[in-house]
Amino acid sequence: MHFELRNAFGNFGTGVVVIAIRDAAGNARGVTINSFSSVSLEPALLSWCLDNKSDMLEAFKQSQRFSVNVLAATQQELSNRLAQPGDHLIAPEEYQIGAHDTVLLQGALAHFECHCHDTLQVGDHLMFIGGIDVAHFCDEKRDPLLYFRGNYAAIDAKGAAK
Ligand SMILES: Cc1cc2nc3c(=O)[nH]c(=O)nc-3n(C[C@H](O)[C@H](O)[C@H](O)COP(=O)(O)O)c2cc1C
Repeated sequence: MHFELRNAFGNFGTGVVVIAIRDAAGNARGVTINSFSSVSLEPALLSWCLDNKSDMLEAFKQSQRFSVNVLAATQQELSNRLAQPGDHLIAPEEYQIGAHDTVLLQGALAHFECHCHDTLQVGDHLMFIGGIDVAHFCDEKRDPLLYFRGNYAAIDAKGAAK
């Protein structure tokens, strides 16, 4: 079942986001996530899920605020780096601080500045529901970073597969 489930989930192509926080010491830290979903327009809500075994779980539980950064195709290296176990640190030159004191990654296709609206323990993941305070988007023609069957994938920004 596990094998089938992983591969069935993997056949759902997604975008890739980095969820970022400022930790208790003020450092920017982030994790690469593809379980992101839009949830509601009114009120403005989104969700994402973090593995209960993640070393970042406590830091995210303690943070009242987080950002969701939608990655562009040029940000594959950043995606890989923030998917490695470790300190998940984001360098000062890689981000700006938003109006709601969240970490906004340079070069992202969209940012959502969120407060933690709710968390739900769901199986082996913790689901975070973000209340969106501000959404920013880039309207330049740039390709998104996509993920499909365990690999990065590309799509033309106009929507036609490459
Ligand atoms: C494209 C991609 C999507 C990912 N999506 C998720 C996800 O939705 N939830 C999750 O818990 N981990 C996800 N991961 C894995 C985490 O990024 C990674 O396992 C985690 O950061 C490992 O370090 P940690 O134990 O320090 O958290 C994803 C990894 C990649 C490369």
